[in-house]
Amino acid sequence: MTTTDNRKMLIGMQLGNGYGAQVTAWRHPSVDVENYAKLDAHVRYAQKAERGKFQFLFFPDSPNQTQKHPADAPQMTLDPLITMAAIARETTHIGMATTASTSWNEPYNLARQLKTLDMMSGGRIGWNAVTGSDPMGAANFGQEVADSAQRYQRLHEFVQITQALWGSWEEDAWPPQRETGVFADLNKVRPINLRGQHVASRGPLPIPPSKQGQPVIFQAGGSPNGVEVAARHANVVIGAAFTKEDAKAQRDRLRNAAAEAGRDPDEIKFIAGLMPTVAPTVRQALDRRGFFVEPHIRQRVSYLGMMLGTTLSEQDLDSTLEGRNLRANPSDPRSQRALELAQEGWTVRDILYHGIIDFHPSPIGPAEVVADHMQEWFEFGACDGFWVSPSLYEEDIDIFVDQVVPLLQERGQFHADYEADTSRGHLGIGKQYGLDPRLQ
Ligand SMILES: Cc1cc2nc3c(=O)[nH]c(=O)nc-3n(C[C@H](O)[C@H](O)[C@H](O)COP(=O)(O)O)c2cc1C
Repeated sequence: MTTTDNRKMLIGMQLGNGYGAQVTAWRHPSVDVENYAKLDAHVRYAQKAERGKFQFLFFPDSPNQTQKHPADAPQMTLDPLITMAAIARETTHIGMATTASTSWNEPYNLARQLKTLDMMSGGRIGWNAVTGSDPMGAANFGQEVADSAQRYQRLHEFVQITQALWGSWEEDAWPPQRETGVFADLNKVRPINLRGQHVASRGPLPIPPSKQGQPVIFQAGGSPNGVEVAARHANVVIGAAFTKEDAKAQRDRLRNAAAEAGRDPDEIKFIAGLMPTVAPTVRQALDRRGFFVEPHIRQRVSYLGMMLGTTLSEQDLDSTLEGRNLRANPSDPRSQRALELAQEGWTVRDILYHGIIDFHPSPIGPAEVVADHMQEWFEFGACDGFWVSPSLYEEDIDIFVDQVVPLLQERGQFHADYEADTSRGHLGIGKQYGLDPRLQ
């Protein structure tokens, strides 16, 4: 893949709690500490992402308390579907994909809510279909987490019933015909009568086609069952990978699995995670990131020791690791990068300020460093784009939009403007209304 290809990367953005992807972002002086409960902030952040021409917002979710420490803010919005409704009214182009569990919902409810959102947003909705595997989530429904096979069997049934419900109002049964006096021909708004082992629905769902027909399916995960689901149903996979080689292997695996399921591999987009920090110098960028690392630095220092095969305590924070016998712990894929930083002579504190114990790669420094990372991965075929987790929404979205996006545009890596106004249009994926006929 080279820059002469006209393929351009997709960019999405994680939107969670109203502060930033770092759980300590709520303490930053630039944010209102009550933003968790103020949806106006989420709307403003969505508008900033739209100004950057991002293709989608991604809402992680879990139906339970996610706050693990008193110093951390929860990482989810109050309710992502309702948050999306507020954002839909205040934006015009950006897509929005929410996570919703197939274990703790019923297809009819979720199909109805998502398609209503797709109508009101003008066809900009996606659904990240996950099983949910947190016992705390299960307990909120009086249940226990089922084994993987059961969870994914239910997910398969759930997605298909949902899609059948979405297509149960036939496209040419809309709009209403004033002349004939027929609002909707009931021969074209028909039951689906689907029953699986876990879920069932009679239908129909009395909602006409949206501007993009129906919502787009996203998937997050990567376990063998997750890949099988994604290969059959998803257009977007929200991924996590720490090296471009691993990302490429994950993307290739998905593309091959999609081809085996009878689909065109280009119908499935692998989106790698990214947690960048941009500032004029590397030192300034490290200090920006360090603000979020400091509150938990004591716990992280011992974990870093485990990653490097040595014992570390807070006394070591301002020392380099010169002279120590270090090795990258193979059980944590981030260890190799931590080892490189140690060998470059950074102090323990600065290694941690590099975001080394975070969920995704963290390029840190001037905008070029972030753009280079993205271009390198994209041209390597590691991904079809990135979902960016800004540390602090209040500042980092604008910094990314004003500094990284123009570089990517100049380099021909990212589009200059929206070519469409629906999620399917942004993603360059074909139409699907109802079930995928190839899978029936
Ligand atoms: C990048 C990424 C994001 C995820 N986001 C969510 C989420 O928001 N909510 C959720 O319940 N699970 C989420 N998951 C978990 C997966 O759906 C899945 O449960 C997990 O990868 C474990 O696989 P398994 O369920 O097959 O055991 C995410 C996974 C990844 C890799």
